[in-house]
Amino acid sequence: APDISVANVQSHLAQLQTIANANGGNRASGRPGYKASLDYVKAKLDAAGYTTTVQTFSTSAGTTYNLVADWPGGDPNHVVMTGAHLDSVSVGPGINDNGTGSAGILENALAFAASGITPKNHLRFGFWGAEELGLLGSKHYVSTLSTAEKDKIELYLNFDMIGSPNPGYFVYDDNPAGNGARDDLTSYFTSKGVPWEYIDVQGRSDHAAFRSYGIPTSGTFTGAESTMTSAQASKWGGQAGRAFDPCYHAACDTTANVNATALDRNIDAIAFMLWKYVDVDYGTTLPPA
Ligand code: PHE
Ligand code: CA
Ligand code: ZN
Ligand code: ZN
Ligand code: ZN
Repeated sequence: APDISVANVQSHLAQLQTIANANGGNRASGRPGYKASLDYVKAKLDAAGYTTTVQTFSTSAGTTYNLVADWPGGDPNHVVMTGAHLDSVSVGPGINDNGTGSAGILENALAFAASGITPKNHLRFGFWGAEELGLLGSKHYVSTLSTAEKDKIELYLNFDMIGSPNPGYFVYDDNPAGNGARDDLTSYFTSKGVPWEYIDVQGRSDHAAFRSYGIPTSGTFTGAESTMTSAQASKWGGQAGRAFDPCYHAACDTTANVNATALDRNIDAIAFMLWKYVDVDYGTTLPPA
């Protein structure tokens, strides 16, 4: 897998900050800053050769959107999917939550497009709206898929807050039975000398709808409102007694609220997973007898 450029991801974050600044300070679903964020991401993906689809749905805050991007090629019966929510809360610009996950998967999608690799499996990226209103976008997306389409999704990886300023290195401990992704993420961190912990985030982000259906899921997370313990602080070199993200769901969740080392480690972990799973052999799907 390539080394994903943290500078490129930071430049996407600067653009998301500019969008929030120009739209009342937020990128919340139902507000103009959300649509502007979606247009920014979509233009990058379209220019790189992705097939993009905008899915419209309604919420109590108004009409909002998901953006789904498919890389043309790969076996359509075996889909490896990666997602992040693109909306912020209404009180702030949402740069760590979840500009980091959105920009991180965007830059990975662009790097994959530039790689010239012929994928064995089909790669798809989801940018979800209205996560902050109750995981609405990802739930809506899954609800629109037929059973056959859901069954083609072999893996869903979720990234929500991957550059927290007082970072922990958490790996979603999801449905471990038959889920090698969880162990691949932890092995990756170990190989880079990064201590990690499993975390049970069941129900708190956009993997939930996929997981409920029975699709293998995992993801990484650098922590939100909870406080770093002293054991964690010694292992990660952080500040004990301080939140992983003191600006969680606050106006100060700006580009200043991102730890570049944590962001870089997580975006490179995403690349490790994508480059591995795009080439996993899921077997041949036989036509019905
Ligand atoms: N989904 C939460 C939010 O957007 C943050 C979170 C992510 C919490 C991952 C737990 C695990 O506010
Ligand atoms: Ca990197
Ligand atoms: Zn399959
Ligand atoms: Zn949030
Ligand atoms: Zn979030």
